[in-house]
Amino acid sequence: MKRIIVLGLMTLAVSNAAAQKTENSLKKAFKDKFYIGTAMSLPQINGTDVKSDQIITSQFSSIVAENCMKSMFLQPQEGKFFFDDADRFVAFGEKNNMFIIGHTLIWHSQLPKWFFVDKDGKNVSAEVLKQRMKNHINTVVSRYKGRVKGWDVVNEAIMEDGTYRKSKFYEILGEEFIPLAFQYAQEADPNAELYYNDYNEWFPEKVKTVINIVKNMKSRGIRVDGVGMQTHVGLDTPKLEEYEKAIVDYASAGVKVNVTEMEISALPSPWGTSANVSDTVEYQAKMNPYTKGLPQNVQKEWENRYLDFFRLFIKHEDKIRRVTMWGVTDNQSWKNDFPVKGRTDYPLLFDRNFKAKPVVEKIIQLTKEKK
Ligand code: XIL
Repeated sequence: MKRIIVLGLMTLAVSNAAAQKTENSLKKAFKDKFYIGTAMSLPQINGTDVKSDQIITSQFSSIVAENCMKSMFLQPQEGKFFFDDADRFVAFGEKNNMFIIGHTLIWHSQLPKWFFVDKDGKNVSAEVLKQRMKNHINTVVSRYKGRVKGWDVVNEAIMEDGTYRKSKFYEILGEEFIPLAFQYAQEADPNAELYYNDYNEWFPEKVKTVINIVKNMKSRGIRVDGVGMQTHVGLDTPKLEEYEKAIVDYASAGVKVNVTEMEISALPSPWGTSANVSDTVEYQAKMNPYTKGLPQNVQKEWENRYLDFFRLFIKHEDKIRRVTMWGVTDNQSWKNDFPVKGRTDYPLLFDRNFKAKPVVEKIIQLTKEKK
């Protein structure tokens, strides 16, 4: 009898703990505001990183693949597609009722070498490049039609000064490569949301050009639903006011804002917040000051910075479709290797022991405050 009671109490305690967990999850707190998502790495997609998967299913309502849907992985050779990882990623999202995001269709990085050249290694013609873009976009988007709910159609095409990045897409097709990509995506899945995604998208000249692109496409009947603001930020940059102005400006242009790829680095940065993956700098010990843990004062500063951002997101919840973290736990973050390789950074919401940092509960509390 005693044992039954003890067991009963234990069950109660366990189910209370479980209830508590769901009660306090990020996805529950943001349910009526916007999706709250995370990027998924391969071990998470393949189910070998069980602890992270538990966090993902209990805390997040949206997912995006950190790497496996980039063109170099999906179409390593012309016409030879590899979908195994992406299929598993989409299945994971469906099984857990998540808002699934595809990242990314047209991007100058992590792109297979063959994309721009003919068999002699020369640039292909505009016609051939259009055909290759169309075939890539159509094959990928059609495969997940109705299942992937939003696509980063074009990634990182504009520079901070508002000019176009001189990528091969631009060199061969000019500005038109962006509307073309959106048109192909729209044809392949008319119901998927379509986004333009970029970093440093609060630089005023960059905002201007992105808004012009949005308006131009809209005036031509080419759908664009959102602008993804990659949020690879630091403790000092960008200023919250400039970030806020960008949110407001994009919304006024008639698109939703996705806060994408969010993490706040706690480390010194050799330059502002560029996320151009090919720019890296050499390791210097002074650039890696916190290998044994974050000092209290930096922790506090880091936490306040997260809370400032989330306060802003909540203030503009009518303009924001989704906030997506670029990963789950600190040890898996790309920031440990970017822009300086081999550092110990603390940019995400869950620590190296898969534990929620105190900031998670504080972010949840923000959703309960009166605006
Ligand atoms: C990064 C991934 O996190 C890394 O694992 C990979 O080695 C390089 O790319 N902008 C983007 C993301 O749009 O796809 C990049 O992700 C980070 C910058």
